[in-house]
Amino acid sequence: MICVDKREDIVRRINNREATIYEPGLQVLLEQVIDKGKLSATSDLRHAVMNSDVSIIAVGTPFGDGRIDLSYIISCTTEIGEILREKSKYHVVCVKSTVAPTTTDIVVKSILETVSGKKVGEFGLSMNPEFLREGKAVEDFINPDRIVIGASDNKSFNVVNRIYKGYFKAPIIRVNLRTAEMIKYTSNALLATLISYANEIASICEETGGVDAREVLESVTLDKRFNPKVGKHLINPEMVSYLRVGCGFGGSCFPKDVKALISFSAGKGYEPQMLESTMSINETQPVRLVNRLEKTIGDLDDKKIAVLGLAFKPDTDDVRESPALIIIRELLRKKAKVFAVDPIAVNNAAMMLPMDADELVLLTDYKVALQNANAAILVTSWPEFVCIPSYEFVSLMNKPILVDGRRVYDKKTMENAGISYVGVGLEDTG
Ligand code: UGA
Repeated sequence: MICVDKREDIVRRINNREATIYEPGLQVLLEQVIDKGKLSATSDLRHAVMNSDVSIIAVGTPFGDGRIDLSYIISCTTEIGEILREKSKYHVVCVKSTVAPTTTDIVVKSILETVSGKKVGEFGLSMNPEFLREGKAVEDFINPDRIVIGASDNKSFNVVNRIYKGYFKAPIIRVNLRTAEMIKYTSNALLATLISYANEIASICEETGGVDAREVLESVTLDKRFNPKVGKHLINPEMVSYLRVGCGFGGSCFPKDVKALISFSAGKGYEPQMLESTMSINETQPVRLVNRLEKTIGDLDDKKIAVLGLAFKPDTDDVRESPALIIIRELLRKKAKVFAVDPIAVNNAAMMLPMDADELVLLTDYKVALQNANAAILVTSWPEFVCIPSYEFVSLMNKPILVDGRRVYDKKTMENAGISYVGVGLEDTG
């Protein structure tokens, strides 16, 4: 396998067996494949296309100005098309980037045909989405649930199929190009919608009182129509993990993909009401936590608030669209003094936050953040935060209030220790 990147520093680091992103297990895997001579990196796209059977396009597709930005796809496809003009051997161009339905069979196809001077059939076209979670990407790659291959014809399908066949237990699902694109969007939009659904139920339960949304949702997910394995595994609330209450979804995928599907759909003349609600609930959820804190503590002006977690989820240093950023901005707007802490995401967060504000300090040690704080908000359930014992909150903080944005602490234990506890999906009792 030949990896191509325009950035020479990335190419050099990969060839030096250095993983360029934080991802558990990636460093070891990279060392193994490079040592076996199975992977190399280059900035020379021509060399890579000429010496391979498939070009997998995995460039970013950011969302901006109300629609998905295809500029990286377009420039990469154009460069590949120019090389295909000279290449006599059959070659498949496979899109792995998340793109809206019709992108591969209209945009990518027409660029390749125009630039290469060849027709689809002379070269192959495929769309092969990925379903990897950040922080679990290696695990998900090795043990996928399904492999979806969209292909323009049998020949291109067979070439891409050979990459996977025999290596994985998961079913290989053959579909057309736009179905493959739609499967990816539908998958992310469903998971995002489950999260917003859980958070909406949480808000209803908070207003009702005497009912815990977490207990409600755990019970709902035991329905075997929902999860056929329930009978064998008894009670396992993790099974439908996207129905957990929290502070909302973040990351580089869910927000971007739901917004892209909304804008794609609107472009086709259909207003997707459920997806719009998914987004609006998600935007309100972090602000709701700050409002609940304010209700408990009173005016936030000059209060010291510890924010536990900056990454959009544990096991990553990625802060893109993290609920923590919304919470911090809202706290700063309300004139609080914010001490935010994360084991690995501080540098990335510093690039996204107003670091000139005296009221904001980013730290890696939670004990420093909690020192004399009036309240703490748990945003990212890093194990080291989840394990903070009640006595530490009590001894470090000033009349502690704990806002549990992920419902990881035991309310009774915290309250017995003298902490005012505010939990997502539970009414305020303090
Ligand atoms: C997501 C999908 O899960 C992957 O299948 C997909 O391949 C990937 O997007 C992608 O399109 O590339 P990822 O963004 O890495 O993966 O993260 P998730 O673990 O799915 O979590 C996304 C967000 O949802 C996080 O902010 C997480 O805290 C939040 N979440 C998750 C909840 O708020 N509640 C839950 O119950 C589960």
